[in-house]
Amino acid sequence: MEQWLGEGWTRTKIKEWLKGKLGYKGYLHSLGTAYSCRLLAQRYGLDPDKAELAGMIHDCAKSAGKGVLLKLAGDFGILIGEIEEKSPDLLHAPVGAKLAGEIFGVFDPAVTRAIATHTTGSARMGLFDKVVYVADYIEPTRIFPGVEEIRFLAGVDLDQAFLAALENTIKYVVGRGLPLHPASVAARNALLFQGISRRNRSGLG
Ligand SMILES: [Fe+2]
Ligand SMILES: [Fe+2]
Repeated sequence: MEQWLGEGWTRTKIKEWLKGKLGYKGYLHSLGTAYSCRLLAQRYGLDPDKAELAGMIHDCAKSAGKGVLLKLAGDFGILIGEIEEKSPDLLHAPVGAKLAGEIFGVFDPAVTRAIATHTTGSARMGLFDKVVYVADYIEPTRIFPGVEEIRFLAGVDLDQAFLAALENTIKYVVGRGLPLHPASVAARNALLFQGISRRNRSGLG
């Protein structure tokens, strides 16, 4: 993992930083995501060390307050639309991608891209991005109803797991009466246009 880190950073130092910034729960979630990223990367032929790093730091901006996220997004030149203004927490993904470079010296494009898309998804998700998105959703400390099914799917078919996680997230956002980010819709449409659908997969379509 050290090969992608800036000078002076080690795996141990990153863990200490995360523990201090994210609190115990967020720290465990980061470790869990790193673990699931490693397993999924091994399963789908990606670099496990790089995926583990992306998982470990994917929420590095998570503890920043709404005001700080909006300020940092402005500083970094990240587009702030109406949805980000209403739900600034969404910005922890693109802001985190930039902070990965600023703080840890991580500039690897696969890592920063996966961090940037881990919350809303996007129309062009590569395998690495999907691994991080799904790992974030199914890591061992996640205990919501239905997580077991997606954990199982993740080992069988990553696109199916990604679609299921994405659709659950979209339902959750709609259920809370919040505006839906167009990137999430675009991510789902992209999967459907590729012929990936849960209905077809179950043989009903
Ligand atoms: Fe996140
Ligand atoms: Fe996360």
